[in-house]
Amino acid sequence: MRTIWTGILLGSVTAALGLAAYEGPGSPINNDERIPFPESYRTWAHVKSTIIGPENPGFANNGGLHHFYANPAAMEGYRTGKFADGAILIDDLVELKADGTGVSREGARRRVAVMLKDSGRFATTGGWGFEIFKADTKEGSLNADGRNACFACHQKAEHSVFSSYRP
Ligand code: HEC
Repeated sequence: MRTIWTGILLGSVTAALGLAAYEGPGSPINNDERIPFPESYRTWAHVKSTIIGPENPGFANNGGLHHFYANPAAMEGYRTGKFADGAILIDDLVELKADGTGVSREGARRRVAVMLKDSGRFATTGGWGFEIFKADTKEGSLNADGRNACFACHQKAEHSVFSSYRP
């Protein structure tokens, strides 16, 4: 199990290394497939946190403190195993800053990764739309290749969702 997870996480950060190719005009997506910025997501349920440290090969692009959040519909999905349309999952990545006294706190935001369930609009990617908001911007940056790359990995997880909620 441990090996599997290490493999997935390494895959994740390796994929993230090439993400720059998935932003910008490369293969544009339709405006009706854009996902709006998930305002006030930090008031939603906090699901878990993960730290990716400097030892990890993907640190440059994916390193820092990841906080995961879920809106009420997504929380229902964690409970029932069925994610209904309208469910939103967040992977919020901020820098992790050590202050030299053994205390580390969150720093600047690196990006907000979003998954929105809409079976109609995102039928070709398991019903999930994927988006990245860089730093503190509120406009999505992924192009179609980028979204497909997100799904190529996420489809390996049940319902395309890797994380689980521990009450
Ligand atoms: C190579 C694999 C891989 C790729 C590519 C990938 N992810 Fe993930 N993603 C993961 C893993 C593994 C987790 C769980 C991380 C954890 O538990 O700490 C995750 C978690 C998430 C979550 C929280 C919900 C969940 O599934 O646990 C969101 C939101 C998310 N990713 C968005 C994206 C977006 C947007 C992209 C594309 C830009 C992307 N991911 C690309 C592997 C990947």
